[in-house]
Amino acid sequence: MRILPRSIAFALCVACTQTPPLVTQPPVTEPPIPTPPEPAAGGTSFGPTELPSEALGLYGEAAAFAPLQPGSGAASITLDIPELVAAHPAPTALLIPFDADRFYEPARVNVEGTQVRGDLPLDKPVLVVLELGTVASDNYRLLNQLASYREQLSQPLGDDVCKQVLCSNDVFKADQLATRVPGLGPLQTRLGLNFPAVDVGLVEPQPTACDGCLARWPSALPCLLTRCKEFPLPRKARVRKNIAALSVEEVASLRAGVAAMKARPDSDPRSWVYQAKMHAVDSGDVAALQDGCQHRQFYFFPWHRMYVAYFERILRAASGDPNLTLPYWNYSDVAAQRAVPVVYRDPANTSNSLYDSTRAPIYNAGAQLPAADVSYTSAFSALAFTAVGPGVTFGGGTVASPQHFPSPGASGLLERSPHNNVHNDVNGNMATGESPRDPIFWLHHSNIDRLWNKWIEQGGARTNPTADPNWMNQTFTFFDETGAQVSLTGATILNTVDQLGYRYDDDPYAIAPFWPADTLGQVMGQRIPPAQQVPTTDTVLEQKAEVRLTEKSKTVALKLQQANRKAMQKSIDTKLANEKYFLELRGVRFDAPVGVTYLLFLNLPAGAKNPDHTHPNFLGTLGFFGHHAAAASGHHESGAGATEAYDITELVKRLGKLTDLKLTLVPSYPELPPDRKDLVELRKAMKPAGEPRIAEIAIIRQPTP
Ligand code: C2O
Repeated sequence: MRILPRSIAFALCVACTQTPPLVTQPPVTEPPIPTPPEPAAGGTSFGPTELPSEALGLYGEAAAFAPLQPGSGAASITLDIPELVAAHPAPTALLIPFDADRFYEPARVNVEGTQVRGDLPLDKPVLVVLELGTVASDNYRLLNQLASYREQLSQPLGDDVCKQVLCSNDVFKADQLATRVPGLGPLQTRLGLNFPAVDVGLVEPQPTACDGCLARWPSALPCLLTRCKEFPLPRKARVRKNIAALSVEEVASLRAGVAAMKARPDSDPRSWVYQAKMHAVDSGDVAALQDGCQHRQFYFFPWHRMYVAYFERILRAASGDPNLTLPYWNYSDVAAQRAVPVVYRDPANTSNSLYDSTRAPIYNAGAQLPAADVSYTSAFSALAFTAVGPGVTFGGGTVASPQHFPSPGASGLLERSPHNNVHNDVNGNMATGESPRDPIFWLHHSNIDRLWNKWIEQGGARTNPTADPNWMNQTFTFFDETGAQVSLTGATILNTVDQLGYRYDDDPYAIAPFWPADTLGQVMGQRIPPAQQVPTTDTVLEQKAEVRLTEKSKTVALKLQQANRKAMQKSIDTKLANEKYFLELRGVRFDAPVGVTYLLFLNLPAGAKNPDHTHPNFLGTLGFFGHHAAAASGHHESGAGATEAYDITELVKRLGKLTDLKLTLVPSYPELPPDRKDLVELRKAMKPAGEPRIAEIAIIRQPTP
């Protein structure tokens, strides 16, 4: 008995059953600049016969594709697809704009007779996906995922995948692919994460394996992968490399791009200074789209990803090198790379566009950032991207709308370490709101963006807050390399490969599903305020004695009232598993860049020698970033300072007895490579500036559900 699959359709790849693909790898090109839609005047109609011939050759089934006329800016299009509809009756279809590098957000429309009609703001060809079943979008996504792995599969392995998927005589579950095809192991990715279990229906074994597989819809999936080498077009991703791995020519391009941007007048949105002021403005008036950086809440990651992505395009265009990408500074993993990369400090003069003379002299001289300041261990151990109310998360507290540098804010752990610490330690411009004036900023943020991917890659419960419509749909606007304004939302930057066209040299090829099925409705739908329940907490300690930080360690006794201490002790002894304790530093303020990061310890044993982030009593770091002089708009830091929270649950549990709790803050100073004893004096002279201080220390208890 042959059970016909109840399943899907996407653009049928007819060409590949007969002929080899006409075009192999198209060159990496910038996606066209989206043109703002003009008012739809009844729409524009295209029939299959009007398709350009390269679309036929490249993409297969002619009827499934239709170009929007370049430059037409059409907002509403009607596609007539009689053959496709006749062969595969479906009530709905997805219209997916695409270009050489990527697919864009689809629109779901009804099929009316032989036509589909949709409002598509992008000036791009459109892929029509007929929805024959409920799993259409999953399968389409799976196809995308497989296609993105394809270049890493050898041909025999590709055939294996095809056979396993097509000819296994049972229901294919995508997440079993790794077990069935052990050869996929070297891809070093979590297939289960990337390939959710998609039931594509029962497939009958084929004596000739994959031959003829295109006759049936689900079969098209691996066929397209292994036989139709060009469908869908492999997404091209530019690779962001470790700065330490750049060639001389690549460094030259980087320098040329930065120099060209610096030469532009400050009023040009593509100039160095204008771009820096898009982050924050420390002096002068605020111009269009300036002073917008997102900190201390959960827009930190998406905003900076977008900002850096458009900066990279501007830099690439300015450099004249079409292959330029922004490198990253991997200060966390290799001691030697904790120094400011040598090309950013040598030559140490204005002939080197990457040099910034305002940095802490010791770092411009080659000292290394302290390992504790650049550790992401605690950030990576966090499972939650965000939380409402107090909490310690990877990505920062939930907010309903963008916020610049809110007080008190709820910075995510990675924003604090290594992010804030690197700003603070490098000092000079880097410690200010206009930190992007220092070229190292962009390298730093490329790395922060990379660490976001790495966190997701750790798996477990780590996911982006795709269920939060505010995070997904919030629009942020930037300038592109032509000086035009462009907007992105969280939903459009989740996967850097599919959506932004870049990846890191050590990324798994595909990070997150290109198109999370469960978010489709939210992305396309209304913005709804999420139901947010602030968890109840009680205050165990509130100690309002200002702590001033100096170049020396400082220990503060945490004087719990007896009743509170007893209650806390009791809960530790009995039911701590159900509670969390957070230590909060409230009203963290400073008047100018500080330049020294502090390491926090709870009950640090007396005489501990050079305790660092590996010490069992280590709580985390306190770095300083986010103060900047009030600009004309006057909406900066209110003066109340930031709150930094530390999860002390495990530590107090380990300490056992809660008598004599004390917090020690130890200043963290640069490390010197063995051959740099010449910097010892410079290090001895280092002191925190800007009067860093903490207004209040609190301990709060939060019952965990
Ligand atoms: Cu918005 Cu590292 O800064």
